[in-house]
Amino acid sequence: MKLVVVAGARPNFMKIAPLMWEIQRRDGVAAYLVHTGQHYDERMSRLFFEELAIPRPDVDLGVGSASHAVQTAEVMKRFEPVVLEQRPDAVLVVGDVNSTIACALVAVKLGVPVAHVEAGLRSFDRTMPEEINRILTDAISQWLFVTERSGVENLRREGIPADRIFLTGNVMIDTLLACRELSRRSTIREDLHLAGREFGVLTLHRPANVDEPGVLGGILAAIGRIQRELPIVFPVHPRTRKALESQNLAALPGLIVTEPLGYLDFMKLLAEARLVLTDSGGIQEETTVLGVPCLTLRNNTERPVTIDQGTNRLVGLDPQRIVAAATRVLLEPPGAGRVPDLWDGRAAARIIDVLTAGISTPGSTAD
Ligand code: UD1
Repeated sequence: MKLVVVAGARPNFMKIAPLMWEIQRRDGVAAYLVHTGQHYDERMSRLFFEELAIPRPDVDLGVGSASHAVQTAEVMKRFEPVVLEQRPDAVLVVGDVNSTIACALVAVKLGVPVAHVEAGLRSFDRTMPEEINRILTDAISQWLFVTERSGVENLRREGIPADRIFLTGNVMIDTLLACRELSRRSTIREDLHLAGREFGVLTLHRPANVDEPGVLGGILAAIGRIQRELPIVFPVHPRTRKALESQNLAALPGLIVTEPLGYLDFMKLLAEARLVLTDSGGIQEETTVLGVPCLTLRNNTERPVTIDQGTNRLVGLDPQRIVAAATRVLLEPPGAGRVPDLWDGRAAARIIDVLTAGISTPGSTAD
């Protein structure tokens, strides 16, 4: 079985890592790894390949940053010759970034079936670029690998046949569990002068939160209050850095602003934080497994299991509500919640099992 595996942006890298490890362990399964170049900064890309022992990509399409239309189109133009040359049995895409839909669309039009890892998640908010990417990628995929039960229900509601849907668990959690020991050894707390001190973690990168000055200002006003009680580490995404240029963060002495962090350092901080504030999707899942309280600075989530079973709470964007929720967590730390079914470190093995069986059975990929 030959797969073309696609990775483009930072949240893809921790999802493809365990899939690549699993493929390397198996005889008779080969992967050709494509990096689209959607993320390209050292700290947004190469660092993750090194820390997670992901093989060097066979090709880097080098698309870089651009508008949605241009970035998606560039990935498509540069990916098509790769599929034509490689002629894989399937193209495997993960997550919901522009590279995900671009490569899925190229593959399916060339008659190559698509496997989508992290299928079925829905925020029901079509102003989010990721929601569009998720709906479209799922509609054209042959194998839909789902992390939580809500995803299965969403796909069934959209008319996806049951025999395409596989609840296989969460590959990002495979990586988290595999790297726990290594990340415990990170010296990031000492490096940030946080050894022996309690702290929180903040991440922000959603266009709806950072591109709108009023919204970003409101979130930072709330953070200004919280950092008086608890030092907060804020690794800043490149998109957010641009938006922050006009903000006087130096006036917040309890806010520790850093470059984007590597995976092991970041997992160390997440695991040991009193509180995490974020607008990321993946961090809602990671804090659930780590049992760390997470306040999500959004009005919706495509990952409801992190609320129903895990440690996540949606607090929206109102500064007063954010401060009140953080204060409550600090005064009365909530319980650790429950780890969702199949988030057990073996999702990649289940996925490769399904693909191996599907591709080796003649006719199994026909509609
Ligand atoms: C992308 C994904 C988003 C994901 C996020 C994680 C889409 C539509 N969005 O958003 O789902 O949660 O990645 O990080 O695919 N930039 C750099 N260096 C880089 C990469 C980006 O400086 O290595 C800057 C560029 O100015 C770029 C901006 O960040 O214009 C945004 O990058 P882009 O890939 O367009 O979207 P993200 O906001 O990173």
